[in-house]
Amino acid sequence: MESTEMDVTQLEMQRPDAQRPGGARGEATGRAGAAPRVSVNTQRARQATEPRTARLATRGLHAYFGSSAVVRDISLDFLEKQVTAIIGPSGCGKSTLLRCLNRMHETLPNTSVGGEVRLDDQNIYGGGVNAIDVRRRVGMVFQRPTAFPTLSIRDNVAAGLRIATDTRRTRQEIDAIVEKALRRAALWDEVKDRLGGSALGLSGGQQQRLCIARALATSPKVLLLDEPTASLDPLSTQRVEELVYELRADMTVVIVTHNMQQAARVSDFTTFMLAGEMVEYSPTKTLFTTPGDDRTEAYITGRFG
Ligand SMILES: Nc1ncnc2c1ncn2[C@@H]1O[C@H](COP(=O)(O)OP(=O)(O)OP(=O)(O)O)[C@@H](O)[C@H]1O
Ligand SMILES: [Mg+2]
Repeated sequence: MESTEMDVTQLEMQRPDAQRPGGARGEATGRAGAAPRVSVNTQRARQATEPRTARLATRGLHAYFGSSAVVRDISLDFLEKQVTAIIGPSGCGKSTLLRCLNRMHETLPNTSVGGEVRLDDQNIYGGGVNAIDVRRRVGMVFQRPTAFPTLSIRDNVAAGLRIATDTRRTRQEIDAIVEKALRRAALWDEVKDRLGGSALGLSGGQQQRLCIARALATSPKVLLLDEPTASLDPLSTQRVEELVYELRADMTVVIVTHNMQQAARVSDFTTFMLAGEMVEYSPTKTLFTTPGDDRTEAYITGRFG
């Protein structure tokens, strides 16, 4: 355990906000230049005393391919303005769980879902709920950037608005939404002079931030990220991690990752899954230093997976 604790302490030092002037560090301490470690702890201590609301919650959730249950009886709260990481070995059901959270699982053939997913106390699988509306409120970004090749950068960001809204917007209104989303995704400065150009002219890391901007354009309350940096180089990965850390200021983020250092850097809570079941859900630091289940410890210390 001692070595795990040491690793996590080092990871704490590397959290994205610790590297950014004017990030959480400045906010938490009220002055620049304070030790990042202290500010992270201060911020966490403050959060611990504040009541947290579950923005999204699953209750007895099952997901099936045919008759095979690949997500089993998961009851989990995703807290408002917090990042929750989902970790576990390949095939344990992480992506499937994520896809159940915005009704994407049902878009695959021969699938079904049991149990509830509650978004602000509404069961998104309840009668009369529109799946497209759910996806507008719970945005999703995939492992590989999914930029539309025939659309411009601007239209890529605006793509979700067209299908999602029943109110018609003027061109100026859409431009304003696109700019805001690109700014939030930390991409605006890099693309503002070529909004009409092809999205394929962007690097992989820029395309992934473009996909995040597209998800943000519909003002979702929750953002789901499925291994968003798996295909990115270290610098692009760092940009996306910084972004994830900043987005939690006003939204709920769920991130699937194979990279445990990434989970430790960006998340507040972590859940460990195995064979479709949730083994453990704990504050991230607790899970990586004093896990409550032997199977979690075996996984995070690299004994399997
Ligand atoms: N389209 C599909 N049809 C049938 N079974 C599937 C399909 N997609 C996934 N599965 C099965 O469902 C289980 C969970 O898959 P899932 O993709 O959710 O795992 P994961 O934890 O995200 O894995 P990875 O880390 O490799 O992405 C696996 O056993 C997988 O083989
Ligand atoms: Mg997956």
